[in-house]
Amino acid sequence: MSSRRRFLKKAAIGTVGITTVFNCDQSSKTNKTPLATVTSPKKPLIISTWRHGLAANEEAWRQLKKGTSALNAIVSGVGISEADPNVASVGYGGLPDREGKVTLDACIMNHHSDCGAVSFLQSIKHPIAVAQKVLENTPHVMLTGKGALQFALSEGFKEENLLTEKAEKRWRKWLEDSKYKPVINIENHDTISMLVLDKEGNLSGGCTTSGAAWKMHGRVGDSPIIGAGLFLDNEVGAAAATGLGEAVVRTAGSAMVVELMRQGKSPNEACKEITERIYNKHKNHKDMEYLQVGFIAVNKQGEHGGYSVRPGFNYAVFDDEKGNRMEKAASKL
Ligand code: GLY
Repeated sequence: MSSRRRFLKKAAIGTVGITTVFNCDQSSKTNKTPLATVTSPKKPLIISTWRHGLAANEEAWRQLKKGTSALNAIVSGVGISEADPNVASVGYGGLPDREGKVTLDACIMNHHSDCGAVSFLQSIKHPIAVAQKVLENTPHVMLTGKGALQFALSEGFKEENLLTEKAEKRWRKWLEDSKYKPVINIENHDTISMLVLDKEGNLSGGCTTSGAAWKMHGRVGDSPIIGAGLFLDNEVGAAAATGLGEAVVRTAGSAMVVELMRQGKSPNEACKEITERIYNKHKNHKDMEYLQVGFIAVNKQGEHGGYSVRPGFNYAVFDDEKGNRMEKAASKL
């Protein structure tokens, strides 16, 4: 069809542009047939998991508006949760494993599909910033444990104690029974995941967590695993997960959400379908009694969505039109 070309005609309607795509035969330019009407993306747009996503969005938005890159905005944004001792599932103040150690997982991905991750990292308050350094300064995508710590120190990060008095007290209380049964939406609600559609229309994302409270020492969840806790394809959309990491890894959750968007599902529909798949696969599983998984997703048009297994999951959305606010995600149960 070398003699045929597509012409784009733009008409701005409010803050959202509507693009009509015409199929136009060169030999007869007056004979234009509309192929599709596509809503131009609302951008920039930031979405982040849970209520602590509001403060993270606020900082990331401030950075984006200053002209900071999306990746740096993500690192600064989720860095707010990492540094907050009252967020018991991320960074400093995170609940420890069963040995009383705070161990951290994080990953970050840009619109070129470059990614960096750290897992089982201890004593560094901002694992997301170390993940960014893995992306930028190493030939690898993930460093773990002592190697990740060694790398962080070589990049100038400082070791510090991440176990707050409050978290230690809760751990000592847990030791009395030592039962691993994470409390839904509290002890495994965990991760902050952030997805950004920047003003150029490019997607990026990051997530960071101290993981499930009272996990075995050495346990790594979904959050540093590209395709599980986070995935994006800049041609399609981005997705991220929160909740019980084992269930997300078993199903390659975030990658599947993006694939469904590629097939034409909206972010909401894609999150719903994969959440339902996870629910169905776990109906008779030992993890079912404390299974909670939630997904957020955004597509190239700036549509966003979220869905979870159980009620209680919400996410923060920031755009020019409505500012920073919470959206309640629908749930399977
Ligand atoms: N979703 C975080 C974790 O399970 O560690």
